[in-house]
Amino acid sequence: MAGKFSGKVALVTGAAAGIGKATALAFAREGAKVVLADVLVKEGEEAAQAIRKAGGEAIFVGTDVSKPAEVERAVNQAIENFGRLDVAFNNAGIEGRRAPTADCTEETWDRVISINLKWSTIRG
Ligand SMILES: NC(=O)c1ccc[n+]([C@@H]2O[C@H](COP(=O)([O-])OP(=O)(O)OC[C@H]3O[C@@H](n4cnc5c(N)ncnc54)[C@H](O)[C@@H]3O)[C@@H](O)[C@H]2O)c1
Repeated sequence: MAGKFSGKVALVTGAAAGIGKATALAFAREGAKVVLADVLVKEGEEAAQAIRKAGGEAIFVGTDVSKPAEVERAVNQAIENFGRLDVAFNNAGIEGRRAPTADCTEETWDRVISINLKWSTIRG
């Protein structure tokens, strides 16, 4: 596929749904080889399959971005399958429970920070 990202390799986290899925499909339409990463295995595999059916190149890697070893694996899969990594769209995120700050548990805080910020920022 020719396009703005022809010859590039893009990693998209949270790629099984919503903004991440739309972005993964858009990268592929623009010629990128795409690594889709998400905790939702069935939906992520389906999104990668949709790209391949349309003539693009894509793989899905089951990844929980709050776990550093899994993020590392997704990056390594990009390099092993496509030889390089040019773009990382660190999109995976959760809202957590909506509640007044005083009612936010440490567990909820840690989960939101580890998914939305921690490894996305360090690895990105
Ligand atoms: N939709 C909005 O209006 C909006 C506004 C501001 C920010 N955002 C942010 O944009 C991003 C995408 O939003 P969306 O509306 O597409 O969300 P969404 O809930 O539709 O999709 C998020 C995706 O991230 C995945 N995900 C969740 N936890 C994960 C984890 N630990 N590891 C890997 N993948 C994980 C989910 O499985 C899902 O596929 C999020 O970070 C969200 O916080 C969205």
